[in-house]
Amino acid sequence: MLRRALLAAAASERMHRAITAAPQARAIVGRYVAGETTGDAVRAARRLRDAGLLVSLDYLGEDTTEPHHAEAVTAEYVRLLGELSAAGLSAGGTAEVSVKPTAVGLFLPGSGEKTATANIERICAAARDAGTTVTLDAENHAAISPTLRIASELRADFGDLGCVVQARLRRSAADCRELASAGARVRLCKGAYSEPAEEAYTSRHEVDLSFARCMRLLMNGAGYPMIATHDPRLIEIAGALALLSGRSPGSFEYQMLHGIRPEEQRRLAAAGARVRVYVPYGSDWYGYLVRRLAERPGNLAFFLRSLR
Ligand code: FDA
Repeated sequence: MLRRALLAAAASERMHRAITAAPQARAIVGRYVAGETTGDAVRAARRLRDAGLLVSLDYLGEDTTEPHHAEAVTAEYVRLLGELSAAGLSAGGTAEVSVKPTAVGLFLPGSGEKTATANIERICAAARDAGTTVTLDAENHAAISPTLRIASELRADFGDLGCVVQARLRRSAADCRELASAGARVRLCKGAYSEPAEEAYTSRHEVDLSFARCMRLLMNGAGYPMIATHDPRLIEIAGALALLSGRSPGSFEYQMLHGIRPEEQRRLAAAGARVRVYVPYGSDWYGYLVRRLAERPGNLAFFLRSLR
């Protein structure tokens, strides 16, 4: 309930201005975001690689309304992939990138889907040159079908292009079934957006059941499951399902967000699992911060206290 209310309030311009202007917000952002520059992103990737972790870098931003901005975001990803490659961090998929289709033009009026497809194709080509992969993030439900269409179209040339399924959405099991039989790389997460009840499960319990259902489909399928959660119970179930489906530790991975349960990230990696940390960077952190605050009432209370 609080989560939905916060996500709804976050759309207001006033709240946006108040939060981004609050000096205390930066301290909290620092927990979740690696820094503002390409150099910060590369340094974070190196630190995590040295700790035995894999990385997915996300250049912050979403809901682009200007074509030149979609172009600038695309250019930043291409630059980042070049720098990761030069630093020896991308080969073999050690550090990959996560891209939000709305940041590269999906919702631009007119030919948004075409623009986003062309921009993502450029990022995929740069990732291939760098020896690594791209994963398309999942955004609100209106973006899901076009995102999956783009992923399916580009997988013909870039077979390792990954996409995300949000267990919160009622369509998730059907999407997992299709993606698992296509042999795709699929990140499964709970889903961070506020969705209407026709589209999404509303209780935690239903979302967790859906997550477990989707995990079973992905683990039993032909693709590469990427289990993105910090939830200890679901992490345990993932391990059990992997054993039951005869998967080796290299045939799936766990994923967690930068700054959340870092000891658990290291524990799983030390036990021989592949663990990838999702690392956002850039100055456009508002939407990302609000989703992290909405996940944890404790975070929100801490944030509000710090504003006093
Ligand atoms: P849950 O919210 O139940 O949290 C389980 C435990 O994790 C908590 O008890 C706490 O210990 C810790 N925790 C979780 N969130 C925290 C926070 N913000 N601060 C501090 N501790 C926290 N969503 C989406 O809609 N589209 C996407 O593309 C992605 N991509 C993505 C990539 C990766 C690698 C991850 C891990 C997650 C995403 N998400 C996402 C976000 C995801 O949908 C979800 O909102 C968060 O992962 C939180 O859900 P959990 O599964 O961790 O469970």
